[in-house]
Amino acid sequence: SESLTVGELAKKIYREPSEIIKKLFLLGVMATINQVLDKDAIELIASEYGVEVEEEIKIDTTDLEVYFTEDSEESLIERPSVVTIMGHVDHGKTTLLDSIRNTKVTEGEAGGITQHIGAYQVVENGKKITFLDTPGHAAFTTMRARGAKITDITILVVAADDGVMPQTVEAINHAKAAEVPIIVAVNKMDKEAANADRVMQELTEHGLVSEAWGGETIFVPLSAKTGEGIDTLLEMILLVGEVEEYKANPNRKAVGTVIEAQLDKGRGSVATLLVQNGTLKIGDPIVVGHTFGRVRAMVNDKGRRVKEAGPSTPVEITGLNDVPQAGDRFVVFEDEKTARQVGEARAQTALVAHRGEKSIVSLETLFDQL
Ligand code: GTP
Ligand code: MG
Repeated sequence: SESLTVGELAKKIYREPSEIIKKLFLLGVMATINQVLDKDAIELIASEYGVEVEEEIKIDTTDLEVYFTEDSEESLIERPSVVTIMGHVDHGKTTLLDSIRNTKVTEGEAGGITQHIGAYQVVENGKKITFLDTPGHAAFTTMRARGAKITDITILVVAADDGVMPQTVEAINHAKAAEVPIIVAVNKMDKEAANADRVMQELTEHGLVSEAWGGETIFVPLSAKTGEGIDTLLEMILLVGEVEEYKANPNRKAVGTVIEAQLDKGRGSVATLLVQNGTLKIGDPIVVGHTFGRVRAMVNDKGRRVKEAGPSTPVEITGLNDVPQAGDRFVVFEDEKTARQVGEARAQTALVAHRGEKSIVSLETLFDQL
């Protein structure tokens, strides 16, 4: 069609009419919901949302990525940094995460149960920081391969008594490919054999030059075991956050990524989501990967029930018809009907893809399955 009203266009590209009206206003056009737009105007607006207009408005509404649109500068406000900890085996990633959680989360939260939901938030100097408890590099790689960028900052843990190891280098490469700033945590400084200078020296060869040596990389010597240096690490994370200015628009429907998900005997499908933009609310119609439903209950990282979750907040939700996968995207829709349509279309695609895989079962794989 050559023309559409503002209302019709909004519907086609799954936006609020008010948003389109605002966009038009910024372009110098006063419009109402019933205003008819010509082809040029439609193209202009659609391109703002990354939608290509051909003969008709064509948008693959089953591709959740199309809903990860950018917001106007004036709608954005500061959000907590999302941090991932990476490093070689046994260099202290888990101990560091636990140490941060124990010193910061349980502090002043007597009675609060620290529930393990694969992600948590701490407060440092009145500001929140979100930590993702990545199960390992494999999951990180899968998420990145799917284009799901979720982390803002990588903490590279290097044991001061062991130095740079193969997985340290792997982690550096992941972070570089994802264009994520790296903060080096030189861990195990309490040990006799600790040698921070050696770690700095070795990392120089991989392009991470300490500020002390005229480079740009922040190095924090610490001990995950004694807790020494952890406050400095948190301060450095806030510093990077201030420089990078991570922002989001809390006043829109939520979009984000699945951190983990499983089937719970009592509660059904349970998924931990990281809200990346917008605010997730109880009752929201939602598509998560190839599943859909309504957000029935939400629990935060402290094990408390919450009614909504803003940008950079991890929450555990129930109410999905099936179990999504880590790294899957989620999108909240205007109404349940649309969520169902998109969700069912996506489930269908997954089914076809699955059947496609099945059809190439060879004798060997058949034997493997027996
Ligand atoms: P993987 O998950 O297996 O890759 O290991 P990780 O990096 O999570 O290491 P983890 O936290 O499990 O620590 C490995 C060992 O190092 C454990 O025995 C910890 O107690 C010890 N460790 C971790 N941090 C420190 C530290 O700061 N000082 C000392 N002395 N030991 C530490
Ligand atoms: Mg570990």
